[in-house]
Amino acid sequence: MNVLGIDIGGTGIKGAPVNVETGELLAERFRIPTPHPARPDAVADVVAEITRHFNHAGPTGITFPAIIKKGGVYSASNVDTSWIGTDAAALFTRRLGGPVTVVNDADAAGIAEMRFGAGRGQKGVVILLTFGTGIGSAIFYDGRLLPNSEFGHLTIRGKDAEKRSSEKVREEKGLSWKQWAGRVSEYLASLEKLFSPDLFIIGGGVSNKAEKFLSLLTAGTSVPVEAARMRNEAGIIGAACVAAPHLS
Ligand code: BGC
Repeated sequence: MNVLGIDIGGTGIKGAPVNVETGELLAERFRIPTPHPARPDAVADVVAEITRHFNHAGPTGITFPAIIKKGGVYSASNVDTSWIGTDAAALFTRRLGGPVTVVNDADAAGIAEMRFGAGRGQKGVVILLTFGTGIGSAIFYDGRLLPNSEFGHLTIRGKDAEKRSSEKVREEKGLSWKQWAGRVSEYLASLEKLFSPDLFIIGGGVSNKAEKFLSLLTAGTSVPVEAARMRNEAGIIGAACVAAPHLS
């Protein structure tokens, strides 16, 4: 089945039609920079443009970088605060006309990796973390998601983890891979103490550069660490899976 997946991020909004049986993108993804300010109407305009680009009329899954419950937005750490309290699913459904499902961005990436990628067939506790503008998280037990885990806001050395070790912080502060990996290792060690995971999966923008840091992350944790296989496309694929009626 062909479902459109759209991933709303801090710097770009990306979409592609997805074969939800195989997890493959059916066309090259289309990306538009995130408007600033990223208010609901401006973001909905971009989402509508992406839908038009693919001439898509069927179900659409959309990720959003915030706590999402029943299509509503409950937080806004890295997005315009005017989103809090909005019904994002209703807003996008009005604009697109077809059925829309909205899901937290990291939860979507986790769903894709558990179904088609690094977490496929993994039992026990799996934690996927996305490192981009912020840090997103998804936690699974025997393949089932506990939604909206928000581990990016765990306090490390008196600060939100995402304010110390997101990909944005690495770039802005000019941290070396070793310095950044040191911060991430400390963060993984805290998560290990709390959740005893069997596997960490590292996704988000940074997963395209896994060869630069993966081997540096082992210091802080005894838990295996893998890079997301679908790299930065996991959000698009997971969103489409959530929107596919027979798969969610
Ligand atoms: C938000 C999460 C989101 C993550 C990654 C955090 O700041 O609170 O909801 O998943 O950023 O975008």
